[in-house]
Amino acid sequence: MGVGLIRTGEQAALVLENGKADLVALGRELLIEPNWPIRVAIAADPHSDWDLMPQQYAWWLRRRRLQQGS
Ligand SMILES: Cc1cc2nc3c(=O)[nH]c(=O)nc-3n(C[C@H](O)[C@H](O)[C@H](O)COP(=O)(O)O)c2cc1C
Repeated sequence: MGVGLIRTGEQAALVLENGKADLVALGRELLIEPNWPIRVAIAADPHSDWDLMPQQYAWWLRRRRLQQGS
């Protein structure tokens, strides 16, 4: 597991792609942005939509997007 100063999805992906670690962990970045993993996953694969969130959250977020377009 690799940890320390990872702040962006690109940094995390590079660690994994280069075989430096099998798993990355975040400390401080998750303190300021607890939804970091979901935001990064959606940015990497826009088709994943809100499926990565708990169903109860995803339902409300989809409903808002249908109503407001965002
Ligand atoms: C609030 C907090 C608590 C931590 N507690 C531990 C711990 O109990 N044991 C440990 O080995 N590291 C602990 N760490 C260090 C983290 O595991 C990590 O090595 C360090 O924060 C660097 O990663 P980061 O740049 O993603 O924050 C802690 C870090 C933070 C911010």
